[in-house]
Amino acid sequence: MCGIVAVTGYKRAMPLLINGLKKLEYRGYDSAGIAVINSETKKIICNKAEGKLKNLINNVSNIDIKGTVGIGHTRWATHGKPEVKNAHPHIDNSGKVAVVQNGIIENYQELKIKLEKEGIIFNSDTDTEVIPHLIQKELHALSQLELESNGSTLLVAVRNVISDLEGSYALAILWTGAPDSLVVARRQAPLIIGIGEGEFICASDTPAIANLTKIILPLEDEEIALLNPLGIEIYNSNNERQFRNPISLQTSEQVIDKMSFRHYMLKEIYDQPETAKNWLDKFLIKDSDTGQLNINYNFDTKFFESIERIEIVACGTSKHAAMVGSFLLEQFAGIPTNVFYASEFRYSPPPLLPNTLTIGVTQSGETADTIAAINMEIQRRSSMSDEKYKPNLIAITNRVESSIGRKTSNIIDICAGIEIGVAATKTFFAQLLSFYGLAIKFAQVKGSQSEKNINQLISELTNLPLLVEQLLEKHNHSAEKLAHDFFNVKDVIFLGRGINYPIALEGALKLKEISYIHAAGYPAGEMKHGPIALLDKKVPVISIAIPGEVFDKVISNAQEAKARDAFLIGVAPECNGTEIFDHLMPIPSINEWISPLLAIVPLQLLSYHIAAHRGLDVDQPRNLAKSVTVE
Ligand code: F6R
Repeated sequence: MCGIVAVTGYKRAMPLLINGLKKLEYRGYDSAGIAVINSETKKIICNKAEGKLKNLINNVSNIDIKGTVGIGHTRWATHGKPEVKNAHPHIDNSGKVAVVQNGIIENYQELKIKLEKEGIIFNSDTDTEVIPHLIQKELHALSQLELESNGSTLLVAVRNVISDLEGSYALAILWTGAPDSLVVARRQAPLIIGIGEGEFICASDTPAIANLTKIILPLEDEEIALLNPLGIEIYNSNNERQFRNPISLQTSEQVIDKMSFRHYMLKEIYDQPETAKNWLDKFLIKDSDTGQLNINYNFDTKFFESIERIEIVACGTSKHAAMVGSFLLEQFAGIPTNVFYASEFRYSPPPLLPNTLTIGVTQSGETADTIAAINMEIQRRSSMSDEKYKPNLIAITNRVESSIGRKTSNIIDICAGIEIGVAATKTFFAQLLSFYGLAIKFAQVKGSQSEKNINQLISELTNLPLLVEQLLEKHNHSAEKLAHDFFNVKDVIFLGRGINYPIALEGALKLKEISYIHAAGYPAGEMKHGPIALLDKKVPVISIAIPGEVFDKVISNAQEAKARDAFLIGVAPECNGTEIFDHLMPIPSINEWISPLLAIVPLQLLSYHIAAHRGLDVDQPRNLAKSVTVE
């Protein structure tokens, strides 16, 4: 989390920094700040504000900072409350070094104690503040060697300091001793350099760069770079100069309009029919000879043939998509599959098994835990001599140019388009679709389903754009009405079974993250093993009941809740059995296999309307960020 942006060149830095920060606010909105070296006085001018970026913009709207070199930051608080004193940039005691950081410095306590003993005064509670103090100390030591005061000196000082840092970081640093230079460095957190016309701009993510240039140089892990208006020098961790060609940015700057929707989240829920259409257009191809529809993933059949088992790592909503995926891969395609929280996998991975496919699922492509889990798996598998244990990877992401996209050429681009709302909706839907594609592909290659079943599933998928559109039309108003009755509840329980258990989890996550109402999802059969004790008439129970394998069981579980006075809401087709629900959110009668793609829609709408009715900031819920780049 946190977004950083830094610029050096010939143009005024402040508007470029503010513009970059606007594009990075999705990474955190606890506070924002900028620092620019004034080109006349050569002093650092810093301005920070608590809360959203608009507060910083208000602060600086009447200030004209003449300076072409600067850094900016939008914060998601890790160490220290969201207060001005903890906002970045952080500045050393002499006022000469300013730093912005995205990441966590794990050994900051130890470094801080040492610095305090040496008389350094700390002005914040952050882990980051040790960095400017350490750099100033290094610069002071280097000055004793009578080195010239220039960007290279700053580079040496920063290199010496980062060798003592533990944890992950992306850093941008200013020093008044080299007023036209910037030093940037990264370990595990992303950082991209954009080569503009008259400036170099670095940022945590490409949208902050895309309106200035399409020519970029992503900084690789453990690299450090010195930038001034004349050029860029990049070094690896062995201090070897790196030369490589810039690449062109595929994504154009997209201006996303809310259209007539009150919030981006609602617009993105409404984007889902188009998400389905885009996915079908891109990934379903018709064989010109047979007319047969096939999944068009860019990996050859041999790749699928060699796989005997699958492990999936993901976090949050992406993990819920992975759980539906796991169900499909096991139950439809017959491949043993396990899903792991990436944050758990990285510290307690399962024993290595041969011929395993590892799938990383992350819409942002930058989730620190998911990237670390994938890195760990690449590392431990690459060290095996037996070919059967070597890494096989697939990344499922909405950002092909992201960190996960650079790990493997086996990428499934979910093609959901930019998602602005922090709560994932259309990206979840598109991740689900990607797993349907994979399950179909595996079922074909392994022969685990008849051609008829496969064709039926494909044909059901082609109906999705229309079905989802109809669902939205049917439910938006009724979900809003239902929200009026339930916007004040304290707890909500979501139940699902089989392929829809992850949808119960996702329904609960959506509700709690944007409405701040406590919600929990359970496999319906587990209710009686504890959670049922929570039930009374104040706790609504939302049950996903789709005719098929477990329909009767889910209805019985719903009965058990009703017997405890719970208000029962059903997400189910209008069919026998569903009359037990006090309120039905009807979905069409469809094949159970594709039901998650429809069942999620009314749940997204209900969460949205409850949060909107509570007057909350639906698109930027408190304490969250769109891209979670810290552990
Ligand atoms: C919830 C949500 C989060 C993310 C999680 C992983 O609406 O968006 O739970 O799903 O932080 O993010 P990605 O998919 O970017 O790895």
